[in-house]
Amino acid sequence: MIKIPLLWHPRVYNIRMWILHGRNLRKRYEYISRQIGKNKVVLEPGCGPGLLAKYLDPSCKYIGFDIDPSFVKHCKRKGLNVYKGDALTAKSYKKADVIVLYDVVHHIGRKDEKKMFKLCNKFAKKIIICEQPAPELLKRMKWYVWIFNIIDQDKKGKVNLALQRTEKELLKDMKKGFGIVKKKKRIKKIGKEFIVTYG
Ligand SMILES: C[S@@+](CC[C@H](N)C(=O)[O-])C[C@H]1O[C@@H](n2cnc3c(N)ncnc32)[C@H](O)[C@@H]1O
Repeated sequence: MIKIPLLWHPRVYNIRMWILHGRNLRKRYEYISRQIGKNKVVLEPGCGPGLLAKYLDPSCKYIGFDIDPSFVKHCKRKGLNVYKGDALTAKSYKKADVIVLYDVVHHIGRKDEKKMFKLCNKFAKKIIICEQPAPELLKRMKWYVWIFNIIDQDKKGKVNLALQRTEKELLKDMKKGFGIVKKKKRIKKIGKEFIVTYG
């Protein structure tokens, strides 16, 4: 796999997010923050640069963890409560009111994601998942998949556009709680991404 560490520099990541998503990025974080409410402990596995933190109500307590030490360092420099951890390991989790998985599911991969959903279910009453479906046509273009997999790759190296859910598949699985989360749900589409709130 080709790695471009520059793309995973937290500042480059932030710029890339704003270019790709524009105003929808803010809209999604604001929506998620409204779903969370006030006085809540919020845990974000795969927190990246911790963008969510600044959108939360000030009465909330934000905790994040990420497998990539450069993001952890960046968050700590910003004064955020973030540590190194693996979303597939129970010891990385803390009890929280809400767990948010923002653009993380496709980084974990279809093979391992159930383990993560089970852990989220165990550690929080409410789970919020935001994901972008893979465009059906682009998913079938080998050259596009190749470029996407380089650009969107993380240090774990599990991102594979060809295996990601299309819009239809994502919606079906969100409605089924990915076969794990049996809670009341609300689904909202903002820009190209779907946000599901369980609980
Ligand atoms: C697309 S970024 C999303 C970052 C952040 N949630 C946001 O809203 O911008 C995916 C993040 O998941 C992290 N990640 C991938 N696999 C992980 C794992 N097993 N445990 C924890 N973090 C992981 C990556 O390092 C990366 O920071």
